[in-house]
Amino acid sequence: MAGNGSYYITTPIYYVNDSPHIGHAYTTLACDVLARFKRLDGFDVKFLTGTDEHGQKVATSARDAGIDPQTFTDNVSQNFRDLLGVMNFQHDDFIRTTEPRHINACQALWRAIAANQSPKGQDNIYLDSYGGWYAVRDEAFYAEGELTDGPDGKKIAPSGAEAEWVEEPSYFFRLSDWQDALLEFYEKNPDFIAPVSRHNEVKSFVEGGLHDLSISRTSFDWGVQVPDDPDHVMYVWLDALTNYITALGYPDQKGEYAAYWPADLHMVGKDIVRFHAVYWPAFLLAAGLEPPKRVYAHGWWTNEGQKISKSLGNVIDPVELVERYGIDQVRYFLLREVPFGNDGDFSHQAMVNRMNGELANDFGNLAQRVLSMINKNCEAKVPQPGDLTGDDQDLLNQAHALHGSAAGCLDRQAFHEALESIWVVVRAANGYVDAQAPWALRKEDPDRMKTVLYVLVETIRHLAILAQPFMPNSCAAMLDQLEIGESERNFANLGLEQALKPGTELPKPQGVFPRFTDEEKAGEGA
Ligand code: MSP
Repeated sequence: MAGNGSYYITTPIYYVNDSPHIGHAYTTLACDVLARFKRLDGFDVKFLTGTDEHGQKVATSARDAGIDPQTFTDNVSQNFRDLLGVMNFQHDDFIRTTEPRHINACQALWRAIAANQSPKGQDNIYLDSYGGWYAVRDEAFYAEGELTDGPDGKKIAPSGAEAEWVEEPSYFFRLSDWQDALLEFYEKNPDFIAPVSRHNEVKSFVEGGLHDLSISRTSFDWGVQVPDDPDHVMYVWLDALTNYITALGYPDQKGEYAAYWPADLHMVGKDIVRFHAVYWPAFLLAAGLEPPKRVYAHGWWTNEGQKISKSLGNVIDPVELVERYGIDQVRYFLLREVPFGNDGDFSHQAMVNRMNGELANDFGNLAQRVLSMINKNCEAKVPQPGDLTGDDQDLLNQAHALHGSAAGCLDRQAFHEALESIWVVVRAANGYVDAQAPWALRKEDPDRMKTVLYVLVETIRHLAILAQPFMPNSCAAMLDQLEIGESERNFANLGLEQALKPGTELPKPQGVFPRFTDEEKAGEGA
């Protein structure tokens, strides 16, 4: 699509030690909504997701399952691919770190880093040996001071993961020499890390001084081989982060790399900020490449107030959620319930309240009432409006202003605010229906009734077009009922010029947002 330039957005690549759960669905959903919004807004979008398949954690899970790691990763990676369909995600590429294109890119990036010198004139990569703590669950090294004592003398990382003592030959990346360059980069790019609390957290971590980073392992072999040293495999985070440029054809820096790098946004959870906002820009600067434009760290979900974990048996399966509540209902809830960036709690009650109150009652009823009145009283055709009153114009003006406000919110990843701005207009339209009472005008002043219904249906057109990225299927059904063709659904069609044409025949309306009416749960709904 033409017009507004390129937009490259990525999810983290998911570890294949586990089945996909709500946390994974959440990160990818946020990216899918942004990707869809930007496509409708005329951007040339590339939306990347995939799976992180190497490292000790995956190797151990494969061994525990009694399967060779490649077969194991093939199986689990497919579960993540299946989730894309379940949640109606429109990704442009799915990367697996066991693919040859990725192994090639990792080795090229390693060579590029090794070929350059650090800002202090030393080799960026050197061979030494590592003696220290490693948490397999996080695939992260920890300094002694970061750990606390757990039961049985175990050492526990801040994430709660158990750390073990590791001693082995290792290549190191001279991260300590990159401290000033990183701080300067954050200073010059204040929007690089968001939200601002994460920016401050990263900045003070780097200001506190950086240790060189172990970037290879020798105690297992499930990884990308270090160039020219077959005893070592690369540290899984160096391997994993490289996926963002592998997918653009790196080491070839023409083609997609030239078109899309630096990435506009790496979406991540708050637990993996350090890797994306410290290590990744340092690796890239060391290789002479540009860091990404922005890293956004969202919060974590709990389930009915409890931390989600396999051992508590309260993992939320996105497939079950979608079967129970519907795809668009789940998509809406996840991005509406919690201010993006904060932690959030999933509860059945909160889900039903949003679904019945905001979708079925507010938006669904608005469309159903207006389209039914048109169907019954205007020969099922878009009515011909007469002169507009101040109230008519006010509602239309609000609808016309929505594109700008939603785009502004989404450029800050404020999904909840974008939805709220749409719902301000939904509520205004409902208030307008009540105030204008078109059913009463039917006999008293049919021409005025037609004007009111026209203003409403044109407002609904705007709402349905703008809510598409969040709820693609439901909005498509609504736009079908307005007889709006596929090519007239992007944001270039918003505003006066492409307004609905009076006289257009409309099909018989059907409800788009069902209420949640599980008998067992009767009475719990809004
Ligand atoms: N493989 C690494 C990422 C490498 S990116 C170069 C990884 N994978 S992960 O599968 O463990 O996590 C992927 C994402 O899921 C993270 O962004 C994480 O924050 C997110 N979530 C996992 N559990 C979550 C919740 N309970 N709630 C919200 N998001 C959570 O880390």
